[in-house]
Amino acid sequence: MRASVIAALHAFAAAGSLLAAQEKPAVPAKGTPAAAPAAADPKPPGPPPKAEYMGTEACGICHEALVKDFKRTRHQALETEKKRGWDGKSCEACHGPGSIHSETTDTAAIVNPAKLQALDENNRCLKCHVNQTARVGRIVSGHAKDQVSCSQCHTVHPKPGQLLFERRKPQINALCGQCHQTVRAAFERPHTHPLSQGAMACTDCHNPHNPTGYAARREAFGSEPVCTNCHSNLRGPFTFEHAPVRLEGCTACHTPHGSVNPKMLTRHQVGTTCLECHSGLAALTGARANAVGAVPPAFHDTRSPRIQACTTCHRKIHGSYVDRSLQR
Ligand code: HEC
Ligand code: HEC
Ligand code: HEC
Ligand code: HEC
Ligand code: HEC
Ligand code: HEC
Ligand code: HEC
Ligand code: HEC
Ligand code: HEC
Ligand code: HEC
Repeated sequence: MRASVIAALHAFAAAGSLLAAQEKPAVPAKGTPAAAPAAADPKPPGPPPKAEYMGTEACGICHEALVKDFKRTRHQALETEKKRGWDGKSCEACHGPGSIHSETTDTAAIVNPAKLQALDENNRCLKCHVNQTARVGRIVSGHAKDQVSCSQCHTVHPKPGQLLFERRKPQINALCGQCHQTVRAAFERPHTHPLSQGAMACTDCHNPHNPTGYAARREAFGSEPVCTNCHSNLRGPFTFEHAPVRLEGCTACHTPHGSVNPKMLTRHQVGTTCLECHSGLAALTGARANAVGAVPPAFHDTRSPRIQACTTCHRKIHGSYVDRSLQR
């Protein structure tokens, strides 16, 4: 049955002006034009007919170039590996059953993921990719609470030379920078990570496959490894921890995207950074209220520039193995 439909399609396609110039039929016509589409037949009343799976061969009759290029992508595994359940009909794993579209060429009778709501497209892809472990972290969901779809960052039908996904750091940064321009710009500040030099990528710290800001960070919280992946000397555990490093994470004192302040501190002067918590003023509210530190002993004259440079004495500011007051 399917075979005869395919034969008819070949004929239809060969006769047809329907084909884009670059998508010539793969095989010469076999059937007769008379067997061509049912589209013109009067439709019997009743529920719309249900599409069936046609197989990749049928798609290739009209979409020859796409089918050929597809063979070079990793998704070709769907076509060839029986265990995936889509062998011989890989196109329809993402586009849904295509018999009606194949007979009528009606674009409304086939799913184009790029025309779906981001959430619906993402779910289509996540059917197979959810929970996959990737270099950038586990694939949990789409980007930005599903405001951005997979195909805005991945080219499923790459042209020769294009990649299904980008692994080169400068290209990843350019991709992210298209939408996050202010963040990208922060990496041009005087004190920052070497992103613009191509030595680092946004994905060294962020997982793009996670829904919200908090979860999108692969950031150091407590012993979470992101910052300490690279800054391993700060990983600890230390005999004497500096509470906020563990409890609040590195961003309690640093601006990770770059800063005009030395060492990417949140404040221009070290002392001001410290006194936000160590001043005895109960100015902090919310979660940060718990982070208020002790008032320094009286000999700290915090108006004195010597004292304001707190880390000349409290050198092991990220934690110490030997000294409770973080001096050694
Ligand atoms: C008889 C020829 C023919 C066959 C067979 C065929 N298509 Fe198409 N397809 C077309 C034409 C014509 C278009 C419209 C192209 C355009 O507008 O540029 C199209 C468009 C599409 C689109 C884009 C729809 C949109 O809304 O933008 C998708 C996706 C698609 N086809 C997938 C498939 C798949 C999958 C198969 C196999 C199951 C298949 N096609 C079989 C002729 C065919
Ligand atoms: C992994 C999922 C996936 C598979 C498998 C897949 N496609 Fe697509 N296809 C997409 C997505 C996503 C888009 C829309 C974004 C784009 O054009 O890259 C698309 C777009 C298309 C279009 C519209 C192209 C255009 O330029 O407007 C056609 C036609 C098409 N696919 C045909 C096929 C055919 C034929 C196969 C089998 C060889 C196939 N697709 C396999 C996901 C898939
Ligand atoms: C029916 C299952 C299925 C669906 C649906 C699917 N994929 Fe895939 N995808 C695969 C398989 C299988 C591979 C090959 C890599 C592997 O062995 O895991 C793959 C590979 C990839 C890769 C490359 C991974 C690598 O390691 O090279 C990307 C990126 C990708 N898919 C994105 C998508 C996007 C975007 C969509 C939705 C438009 C999608 N996939 C839909 C099964 C699927
Ligand atoms: C905001 C951009 C963005 C969005 C949206 C996005 N990805 Fe990715 N994805 C990336 C980047 C960048 C990489 C490559 C990271 C690397 O390896 O350095 C990647 C890698 C992948 C890989 C390969 C993983 C590996 O390491 O083998 C798969 C599979 C994948 N993405 C699937 C998806 C799916 C499915 C969706 C939609 C639910 C999606 N992606 C949405 C940016 C994105
Ligand atoms: C060194 C690690 C690191 C790198 C590299 C990095 N980020 Fe971030 N990013 C973070 C951390 C940590 C936060 C949370 C900041 C906070 O809580 O104050 C964050 C927050 C964000 C936010 C939400 C808050 C905001 O500032 O808008 C976005 C969006 C973002 N990053 C995008 C990016 C993009 C795009 C890149 C690449 C150009 C990038 N990040 C590179 C660590 C990093
Ligand atoms: C197509 C546009 C687009 C691209 C490309 C893109 N993003 Fe986003 N991203 C968004 C939108 C929209 C949001 C949600 C709004 C917001 O918070 O800025 C978002 C949110 C985020 C957030 C969470 C911010 C928060 O506080 O909730 C992070 C982190 C992030 N993106 C990182 C990245 C990284 C890393 C890349 C590159 C791999 C990237 N984005 C590429 C559009 C994009
Ligand atoms: C309580 C505030 C605070 C927290 C939290 C904090 N830092 Fe720092 N960090 C500093 C100060 C202050 C300096 C500057 C030290 C100086 O004056 O030399 C600094 C300097 C650095 C430097 C520069 C190299 C050096 O040792 O001088 C790196 C790298 C660094 N911090 C990484 C991190 C990482 C990674 C985390 C999270 C695990 C973190 N910091 C958490 C206050 C903090
Ligand atoms: C992929 C590796 C990597 C990751 C992840 C990383 N860093 Fe860095 N960090 C570096 C490198 C490399 C430098 C040195 C930059 C230079 O000297 O040009 C640096 C420098 C710094 C400095 C000192 C800047 C200065 O002016 O001396 C601070 C502070 C810092 N990082 C904090 C962080 C924080 C906080 C995080 C997590 C949000 C983090 N880093 C994650 C690689 C990394
Ligand atoms: C985000 C809030 C915060 C910031 C910023 C901060 N601290 Fe702390 N610090 C704490 C908390 C909380 C403790 C533990 C409670 C206490 O003070 O006993 C602590 C403890 C200490 C201790 C004593 C260690 C102990 O356990 O008795 C010293 C010394 C110290 N901080 C110095 C500094 C210096 C110097 C800076 C600036 C580089 C700084 N702190 C920045 C919150 C902070
Ligand atoms: C000249 C060196 C020096 C400078 C500069 C300095 N401190 Fe101290 N700090 C000390 C000494 C010494 C102690 C007492 C340690 C002890 O009791 O064992 C101390 C104790 C502390 C303690 C209490 C630690 C504890 O064990 O309870 C805090 C908090 C503290 N300093 C914060 C700061 C802050 C914030 C700054 C910058 C505004 C700063 N210090 C600058 C030398 C210094």
